[in-house]
Formats: sequence, structure tokens, C-alpha cells
Amino acid sequence: MLRTHTCGQLRTSDIGISVELCGWVAKSRDLGGMTFIDLRDRFGITQLVYNMDDEAALCERARRLGREFVLRVKGEVRERSSKNAQLATGDIEIRVMEFEILNVSKTPPFTIDDDTDGGDDLRMKYRYLDLRRNIVRKNLELRHNLAKEIRAFLDQAGFLEVETPVLIKSTPEGARDFIVPSRMNPGEFYALPQSPQTFKQILMVAGIDRYYQIVKCFRDEDLRADRQPEFTQIDCELSFIEQEDILQIFEGLVRSLFVSVKQVTFEDFPRMTYADAMEHYGNDKPDIRFGMKICDYTSATRSSGFVVFDQAEYVAGIVAEGCAEYSRKQIDELTDWVKRPQIGAGGLIYIRMNMDGSIKSSADKFFQEEQLRGFCEQAQAKPGDLILILAGAKTRMQKALSELRLEMGNRMGLRPKDTFAPLWVVDFPLLEWDEENSRFHAMHHPFTSPKPEDVALLETAPGSVRANAYDLVINGVEVGGGSIRIFDKDLQKRMFSLLGFSDEDAQAQFGFLMNAFEFGAPPHGGIALGFDRLCSIFGGVDSIRDFIAFPKNNSGRDMMIDSPSPIHQDQLNELQISIQKKA
Ligand code: AMO
Repeated sequence: MLRTHTCGQLRTSDIGISVELCGWVAKSRDLGGMTFIDLRDRFGITQLVYNMDDEAALCERARRLGREFVLRVKGEVRERSSKNAQLATGDIEIRVMEFEILNVSKTPPFTIDDDTDGGDDLRMKYRYLDLRRNIVRKNLELRHNLAKEIRAFLDQAGFLEVETPVLIKSTPEGARDFIVPSRMNPGEFYALPQSPQTFKQILMVAGIDRYYQIVKCFRDEDLRADRQPEFTQIDCELSFIEQEDILQIFEGLVRSLFVSVKQVTFEDFPRMTYADAMEHYGNDKPDIRFGMKICDYTSATRSSGFVVFDQAEYVAGIVAEGCAEYSRKQIDELTDWVKRPQIGAGGLIYIRMNMDGSIKSSADKFFQEEQLRGFCEQAQAKPGDLILILAGAKTRMQKALSELRLEMGNRMGLRPKDTFAPLWVVDFPLLEWDEENSRFHAMHHPFTSPKPEDVALLETAPGSVRANAYDLVINGVEVGGGSIRIFDKDLQKRMFSLLGFSDEDAQAQFGFLMNAFEFGAPPHGGIALGFDRLCSIFGGVDSIRDFIAFPKNNSGRDMMIDSPSPIHQDQLNELQISIQKKA
């Protein structure tokens, strides 16, 4: 080994010993008589001292070292005269006797510090330098620790880790597939898995009983802070279980991760039906760190003479506690905020419940004070509160109100990163109506089982059939989702036909699964947790990119290797692919 210790290891108990360290020059300070260098490696920073009086030649050489040069130093550990409490090694320093430059470095394009001056794209282009930063490296350490704990937990619970293929046939998860051409089968394509869904179900037919895999999945969808085209799932499937067993086991997993990694304990995770989540929070992944539930005013505001309300399918509001003092300017700014195309509201009506009990509203003209007071009562607003109301098409306004609620939660400091609110959302609808194509889609995927008590409604009222499907939500982030599967081939056939698959289509796409189900499929179900999202929640950061060593940017590009990129004509010819040039 080129070193005796790491740069994070030495303490006062080591004073007097000779050591050899290796690392990168993080910082260098030349004070004339003495030169100080901070030597960095993955484990920490150790201060090196070169003394002009003792070793003039050595000190001269040290002065010429550039940032990020790679050094190997020999020296003696001694006590620091001015200690640095911020640093684990801050009580000691190394008096350097000898050193060797193992490699030189160009000047890095941004400072390698917690507070770097590098923009996103620059940091991604030089990700290896970004990864030298404490903050980013710590995220990878967190990821490593979580993965280690997850493996230990699942192993203990009898799960077997099995790898499933990456070159597969398209899986029906709802996003677009990434496609890989096959040289040996011209004109035919593999798809990269959106998840190992069908394979894990087949593993249940194979009698594996409890499967898990920490696995890369690929989805060609629009990117956001919590979405990458290539991401990792903790993918699990179990046989001979019911929904309740799955909720218990995975609640246990998440609970144990919080205890070991964050020292946070929880009571039982609350559960909420999809219908309640939509009604009270306007979306299926509510952040329940705070209240501010939606109050439905649709029937209370009917025939008011106020066209905005009278013509709206849905009128509803939220109470921002203690915000009655919002200025006109603040309200105007919120109004502009809800009118942005991403939010999509036509405008914002407010009711102020002043501290003196008086009421003021932007819809004063259309409502008696008593009616306004009724609205306040209905929403349980108190003096000092502000009610914000939106009106319009129901689905759109639910989404807008849910965004407004989160925005107000942020503005009012109700979403602290170190508070965690896990929640199970259950009883999802089995199907969702696709307006554009006038057909039903599986809300989760086509293998999800309807609730037994709703099976009779499959042909008569398919939209109201509930599924044995559940999502795990933490702080408003969908961390995982799963379901109990259909294991009866006749029910699966009914499901495919509801989804508009002909027998031939179903056979062509899922024949392998339906065939497997003819050989004794056990009752089974499972769940997949988004590992990157789980890491970002534990790390208290919104973007999952910070927890992925080599992420893609928002256009799906890897800035470091500059991919995707064109391929050589010879490769295209071999694959029999011709590219149509844009006109
Ligand atoms: P689902 O599609 O809900 O279920 O995915 C499971 C979890 O994976 C995470 N996730 C993502 N994370 C980052 N970037 C993405 N693009 C992305 N897409 C999904 C989410 C999500 O909750 N096969 C089923 C699971 C099952 O039924 O067992 C599935 O994949 O955290």
C-alpha cells in the first residue's frame, strides 16, 4: 500500500508516529515561513505543514503544488497549535518530511467545495470532480448504506435475490420503452425493462416464493426532479400472501431503515383510500406533514349569480392559516402563480377572516357576509386565516389546488426536510379512462387484481372497480407501488379484453405469462420501491440526480460521455436501420 492511514483517520492519540498519506491537494496556503496544504481523500482532510526553517527545499516545492495534484507524503503526526473543531482530524497535522507528486492536475473548472461555483451542466460534464465534493460523496455513501440495510432486511425475511434479463420484450407499464435493435434478428428489437414485472411473476410460478432485486429500470418519459430515464427499483414479489402481508412487511422495511439510518421511529403508517386522497388533497400522493385539506364548495356556491362559480364543475378551496394579513400584492402574485400554464387555474378568489372577526373577499359582490361566514365555518377557518378558492373543471382544479397547497406549504415552512410523514394510499381504481383514445387503461398494470367484491362490476361499471393496489408515499413523494396480481387465467383474459386486447394481441404480447399461469400459478403480489427516490428522501433533497453517480440531465443526456450520440453508418447498415434525415 502507498499509505499507512487515510486522510480522515489520524487523531491526537497518533501524535508522534510516522505516517504516509495519499490524496489530492484541496487547498494550499503559503504564509511565507510555512506552507499549509489540505490533503483530501474519500475519508476526510488532513492538514500538511511544510516549514521553511526546517526543510527549505521541500517547502519551495510544496509552494508550487496546484489544486488537485495527487500526492504521497511521509511525515510525523503532531498537535496543531490552532485546532479546527469542524474537522475530524482538526486536532492534528502532519509535519511533512518527504513527498512525491503521484500526478499533476489541470486547474479544475469549478471549486471542489460544498458551496461550489459550478453550474449543473458543468458539474455533470466533470462528474468525477463533482464526486470529489463531500456533499455528493456523502449521498453515495447514504445510498450504499441504505442498499446494505435493505439487503440484510430482505435476506432475513427469506427473500432470494434473482437477476432478471435486461434485453427483454416491452413491458406494459405505461411509459415508452427504450428499444435495442438485434443484429442477429434484423428488423426485430429488444426493449429495456420498464420493470421486471412479468419476470418476477414468472419467478412466483417457478416457486421462488420471495424474490427481490435491486435493479435498473428504463423508461423513456419526460424527466423531472424525481424522474430519470434509467433508475433503480427495489423490486419484490411474494407468494401465498395477501395485501395486508405486503403492507406489513414493507412498512417494516422502511421503518427499520429509518431507525438504522436516521434514528427516527414511527407509529403504524396511516392509510388513506385513493378516493379520500383525491377529495382531501387533490392528488394520490399527499404530503401529510401538514393539514390544509381541500374544502369542496361546489354545492354551497351553486346559483350565487357569480358566473365563475356557477359555471364551474367544481369549486373548492384551502385554508392558509394565519395568512389573512397577506397584502394585495402577495395575493396578486399568488393569482399569477395559479394562472401559470403548469397550474392552469383561471383565477383565484380569496376570503380573508380578519383578526377582528370581519370578513373580506374578492367575491364580496356576489355573497352576503353570512354566506362568506358559512364558507369560513365549512372550512373551519379561524380569525387570521385566508381561504384560497379555485373554480373550474374538477380534475384540473384538483390538480391545481394540490399544487397550490404544496406551494403554500413551502411558503409557510410546513414541509421541513427533517420531518417524515409516510402514508399508504390504498384502493386505487383498477382502470383509468383515456379520453383521447376513448378506452380504459390499467391504472397500475394489466396484471393487477380487482378487489374480489368488485369483480362483478368488471363488465357493467368498469370505472368503479377498485384494485388491490397500493402506493407508499413519503412527504408527498410516491416512493413505491405494487399490487396483488391476477393469478387466474380466465380473470386475466377478462382483464385483457376490458383493456381492448384481442385474444391474438394478448397472446402475442403476454402469451408467455398466460402460458406460465397454466402450470400452477400461486396467489402472489408484490411491490417496487423507487430506490433513488428513497435515497433523496433520506438525504432531504428534492432531486434524485444527487443520489445517482452518473445521472442524465433534463434532456436525458449524459453530459460526461456525451450520450446519446449518432452511431457509425457501418453499425446502422449491420443492423439494417436507416435514419430518415429531417426535412
Ligand atoms: P411503478 O411503475 O409504480 O411500479 O414503479 C415503482 C416505483 O419506481 C419509482 N419510479 C421512478 N423513479 C425514478 N425515475 C423514474 N422514471 C421512475 N419511475 C418509477 C417510483 C415508483 O413508485 N412493476 C411495478 C411494481 C409492482 O407492481 O410490483 C412498478 O414498476 O418510486
